[in-house]
Amino acid sequence: MRTALITGGSRGLGRALAAGLARDGWTIVIDGRGAAALHAAAADIGGSVTAVAGDVADPAHRAALSRAAADAGGLDLLVNNAGTLGTTPLPRLAEQPVRDLEETFAVNVLAPLALIQAVLPGLRARRGAVLNITSDAAVEGYETWGGYGAGKAALEQISRVLAAEEPDLAVWWADPGEMRTDMLRAAGEDADAAPPPEEAAAALLRLISDRLPSGRYRAADLAGAR
Ligand SMILES: NC(=O)c1ccc[n+]([C@@H]2O[C@H](COP(=O)([O-])OP(=O)(O)OC[C@H]3O[C@@H](n4cnc5c(N)ncnc54)[C@H](OP(=O)(O)O)[C@@H]3O)[C@@H](O)[C@H]2O)c1
Repeated sequence: MRTALITGGSRGLGRALAAGLARDGWTIVIDGRGAAALHAAAADIGGSVTAVAGDVADPAHRAALSRAAADAGGLDLLVNNAGTLGTTPLPRLAEQPVRDLEETFAVNVLAPLALIQAVLPGLRARRGAVLNITSDAAVEGYETWGGYGAGKAALEQISRVLAAEEPDLAVWWADPGEMRTDMLRAAGEDADAAPPPEEAAAALLRLISDRLPSGRYRAADLAGAR
């Protein structure tokens, strides 16, 4: 039996990834700050899903997540999916409140790294995998996306170095593309015009099923390659 920890599993991409892996027989641990929505999602997904409510930026919550993964028999896959836009409406860098970036980086950069550190010994033992969800905003110069994009770029660089340091693991960092989710709506984009997160999830699940080499991927390319 294989076990995955997916942060931000109560809706959007994280939920779609959790549902896809649960269908394939994986044991899943998910989190999210909103306990009611998280437990409802776990019940809807069905199968063997453990919901641990909390904020990934909280060290005590991260410890609870690694305990839940250990209780499930050990971890094969960590998906750092939970993320925040930071300041909304998205500001130009000239107006970006610098203090807001502390929270953005805590959630989008430091929490993923701390979770990786917490589960790394177990992942090494099982030759497991890490999937970090990033964004095209990490590599493109989109106006107003500088604060969020800087965090995603940092997560990409952590992923790149982790892949070099841990050759026995698969380390993927992936741009899911635009998705019809609360996050895209909160960014002020036309979320209804975007595809549902299940499409990106189906593409990204190929990383896992085919154990593709460590590296940066775009869901659109993975979908096109099928
Ligand atoms: N949507 C897009 O078009 C798009 C494009 C490129 C990249 N991405 C990336 O894809 C990932 C998923 O985004 P999404 O669009 O699926 O977002 P979403 O629909 O807003 O879902 C975000 C999930 O993460 C949880 N979450 C947020 N902050 C958290 C925190 N501090 N601690 C624990 N859980 C937290 C949310 O639950 P709670 O709010 O209850 O905590 C929810 O389950 C993110 O990393 C995002 O940056 C999205």
